[in-house]
Amino acid sequence: MPSRIDQLDKLVSLAKRRGFIYQSASLYGGLQGFYDYGPLGTMLKKHLIEQWWRDYIQKRDDIYPVDTSLITHQNVLKYSGHQDTFTDPMVDCRTCKSRWRADMLKKKQCPACGSVDLTEPRDFNLMFQTQVGPVQSDSDQHYLRPETAQGIFTNFKNIVDSFQPKFPFGVAQVGKAFRNEITPRNFIFRVREFEQMEIEFFVKPGDDETWHQYWVDERYRWWIAQGLSPERLKKESQPKSELAHYAKATVDLLYDFPHGLEEIEGIANRTDYDLGSHSKNQNELNIHAKVKENHDSVTKLAMQNSQTKEWVVPFVIEPSAGVDRGLLALMCEAYYEEQLDQDRSRVVLKLANHLSPIKVAVIPLAKNNAEITETAKSVTKNLRSKIDGKVVFENTGNIGKSYRKHDEIGTPVCVTIDFDTIGAKDSDVSHHQTATVRDRDSLKQTRVPLGQLAAYLQDHYPGI
Ligand code: GAP
Repeated sequence: MPSRIDQLDKLVSLAKRRGFIYQSASLYGGLQGFYDYGPLGTMLKKHLIEQWWRDYIQKRDDIYPVDTSLITHQNVLKYSGHQDTFTDPMVDCRTCKSRWRADMLKKKQCPACGSVDLTEPRDFNLMFQTQVGPVQSDSDQHYLRPETAQGIFTNFKNIVDSFQPKFPFGVAQVGKAFRNEITPRNFIFRVREFEQMEIEFFVKPGDDETWHQYWVDERYRWWIAQGLSPERLKKESQPKSELAHYAKATVDLLYDFPHGLEEIEGIANRTDYDLGSHSKNQNELNIHAKVKENHDSVTKLAMQNSQTKEWVVPFVIEPSAGVDRGLLALMCEAYYEEQLDQDRSRVVLKLANHLSPIKVAVIPLAKNNAEITETAKSVTKNLRSKIDGKVVFENTGNIGKSYRKHDEIGTPVCVTIDFDTIGAKDSDVSHHQTATVRDRDSLKQTRVPLGQLAAYLQDHYPGI
C-alpha cells in the first residue's frame, strides 16, 4: 500500500538531496527564514508560475500583468496602513532569550525551555527597512515590499490611462515579498523572503460580493488542477476579529500539511480601501472604507462613469497565493512511499506532468556500449526537437539507480534503450528499433517503436 508523507522532515531531506531546495548560506551556518532553490526546485517553481501566467494572463483579456519595484516608497506603506498595523505581537523568554509570536503560543510558556518568565507582548513591525542613497536620513528610509499588491495599486492610474479597461478588470503581479517573521518555521512554509502570485481584480462597488465568490471558487479549482486533492484543500472564512486592516471579508484556502491545516492562499475583499487610501482629493470621492487622510498623493485613483460623469473608486477582490507554500503543498501531496515487494521500496513524487521539473529521462542500459549510448543520444535529440519540456540523457550505467532517482524527482516517464533496441545478438527480434517506456506511477513498461516515441509520449503524457 502506498503511504503519504507523515513528517515534513522527509521532504526537507529529499529536497536537499535531490537538488530542489537548500538552506540559504548553509556554509556559514545558514540564515534562518531564507532558502535557495536548486536546479529542480527552480524548474518546479517556474512551471507553477507559468501555469498561473497561462491561465490568468495569456488566456484572458481582462487581466494586465505588471512587474513593479521591490523597494517601496515609505509613503506607499504609510498610506497602505502597513507602517502602523503590519505587526505581530512578540514576547521574549527572559530565561533562554528566545523570541516568540505571542499569538502562536498555546500556553504562556516558552516552547524552547519551558520557562514561564516571559515579557509582556509588544508589537513588532514585520517590514524590512532599507536606506536608499548615500545620505542617512528619515526621508531616505524605505521598505522592501511586504506584498506585491501595493505596486499594483500605485500603478492603477497608469494602467487605466494606457489601456482604458472597462469594469471588471484585473492587474496581476508575481514576485518576491519580504517579511521579517518573528518565528520562521516549517521549511519554506513561513519564511522571510517568499514569492506571491497576486491579482487585484477591480469591480464596481456593489458587485464585490459576487466577484469575491467567483474568485474563491476559481482559485480553489485552480489548485485542484495543479494536483492538490479536495480532501486536503479546505475553504475557510476568516472571522471578523482576524481580518487584515484592509479587508471586509477573506476566505483562506487551507492545505492539510504534515504539520497541520494551514493557509496557502487568501482571497480578500479589500473594498475601496487601497485606492481610496492612495488617492488625492479623497473628500470628493465617495470612499466607503475608513482611510487615512492623504495630502501627499498627486493622483486621483478613481474611474469616471462615461454617462453620469460620476467618479467611482473601484472595489478590489484579491486572490493572493504564496508560490512557496503552494509548491510545498504540491510536493507533500505528491510524496508517496511504496513497498514494491518484500525487499524493495521506493519514494515517488507523483507530480502533475506540467509541473514536473524533468519530463522524460532517456537511459542507455549499458554505459560502455557505443551503439546503445549513440542510439540513446539520437533518441534524446529527436525528443528534444518535439517536446517542449526538459528531456535528459541519463548515462549512469545503473538502470535501477536511475529509475529510483527519477521516481524521487517526479519524472513522469523514462525511456530505456537496451540490447533489443539495437538488435544485438540473441535479442528479441520483435523489439528491434523499439525502446522501453516506463511509467512512473504504474511502473508499467511498454515497448514503443523509436519512430513513434515522441507521438506516444505526447499522447500518453499530456502537459510534458
Ligand atoms: N496581499 C495580501 C497578502 O499579502 P497574506 O495573507 O499576508 O495576504 C498572501 O499573504 C499569501 O502569501 C499567503 O496565503 C501565503 O501563501 C503567502 N505568505 C505570506 N506570508 C508568508 C511567509 N512568511 N512565508 C511564506 N509565504 C507567505
